[in-house]
Amino acid sequence: MKLCMIGTGYVGLVSGVCFADLGNNVICVDKDLKKIDLLSKGRIPIYEPGLTELVKKNYKNKRLKFSSDLKKSIKNSDIIFICVGTPTKKGGSSADLSQVYNVAKEISLSINKFKIIVTKSTVPVTTGDEIEKILLKKKNNKNKFSVVSNPEFLREGEAIRDFIFPDRIVVGSNDKKSNRLMNNLYAPLISKGAQYIHTSRRAAELIKYSSNAFLATKITFINEIANLCEKTGINVEDISIGMGLDKRIGSRFLRAGPGYGGSCFPKDTKAITSTADKFKINLSVIKSVIKSNESRSNFLLNKVYKILNNKVKNKRITFLGVTFKANTDDMRDSSSLKMIPALSKKGAKINYFDPTGLKKEFSKVKNVSYIDNIRESVKGSDLVIIHTEWNDFKSINFKNLVKGKKFIIYDMRNIYSPIKIKKQGFKYYSIGR
Ligand code: UDX
Repeated sequence: MKLCMIGTGYVGLVSGVCFADLGNNVICVDKDLKKIDLLSKGRIPIYEPGLTELVKKNYKNKRLKFSSDLKKSIKNSDIIFICVGTPTKKGGSSADLSQVYNVAKEISLSINKFKIIVTKSTVPVTTGDEIEKILLKKKNNKNKFSVVSNPEFLREGEAIRDFIFPDRIVVGSNDKKSNRLMNNLYAPLISKGAQYIHTSRRAAELIKYSSNAFLATKITFINEIANLCEKTGINVEDISIGMGLDKRIGSRFLRAGPGYGGSCFPKDTKAITSTADKFKINLSVIKSVIKSNESRSNFLLNKVYKILNNKVKNKRITFLGVTFKANTDDMRDSSSLKMIPALSKKGAKINYFDPTGLKKEFSKVKNVSYIDNIRESVKGSDLVIIHTEWNDFKSINFKNLVKGKKFIIYDMRNIYSPIKIKKQGFKYYSIGR
């Protein structure tokens, strides 16, 4: 099939490349000329394991193309995927849909034959209805399109695997023809065992938000339980295992940590409550999840102060990892963005190292330096904070790493065994253990 992905951000690029790899002809469009130029040269603007190789392979065999000519790309395609951003509106909590609607206007001008218009971007329930209205503003478009919702469930760092081996493929459409064509498109994944579910368009839109809000709730729930574990001498991992074995609960996303971040959960939890407010429905559970997660960094900072006996000034603190999770260079809503400036304000001297080499992230924050290797970054530290669960940190032998002065370790991802670290002679704190 001939596909057009509008927006070469995370979702558009990963989905486009994977569709090309499944044998489709895909054109990825972006108005950012520099990005298109880089992509055409095989240079990928984001860090995602396996993506560069897949882009190069499919670009070489000509199934994957990049362009900034939106009109031509739409005209030449059968299925158009809208993959532009839906960030939180400035000063509010609802999703800013201006990019989605602008794209819909552009599409409305270039419909030359029947097309399926698919929203992959995360959009609030009823957005598909609005897109349909925009497309119908041009009379000639009547009966020449179908608007479908096909949300993505790709985790950063695991996106290609999540695309190829999805737990489920959700397609929401209000007509049979588009469902049939979408089912055909996903046939190679369905034949390998992926579950395909067809719902109404509005239901598909809400499935996406509900899934993210539920996962955010699960994480926040275990984070609060971890706080109770710390006060009662319990290992939160026992709780996660004990709860997770109940099939109704499931073991995934029950890892306690510094709170959820990233490009989706913080934005989507806010957007779903804002949508519900518009319909005069109070999603009070999700609202309290947002509040709890927003206070998580402060909660952990207070523990840091306590660990340092409230003497933060001139203390040397090292952050190992600053991204919101491992295998990504994404800093969006990472808790380090709150913690590092707060500690700097209190007079701490901070070193940080991240495997993705994010050298400039904190260049405007006083007394914060990027050090490009683990050994140097922890040298002379009073406290080392394991902020992100990169594999690079999982087998560090701290005893061999530093001869002499021993620092305190605060492992915010529970990647070490407390017994082993303590045996090496380090004072060790973790989350809920
Ligand atoms: C998420 C969804 O998983 C994906 O389906 C959706 O389409 C996009 O948003 P992503 O933001 O890439 O993906 O990251 P994810 O792996 O879901 O983690 C989100 C946040 O939760 C991270 O900050 C992570 O560290 C945190 N997390 C995750 C926990 O603290 N504990 C867990 O058990 C799992």
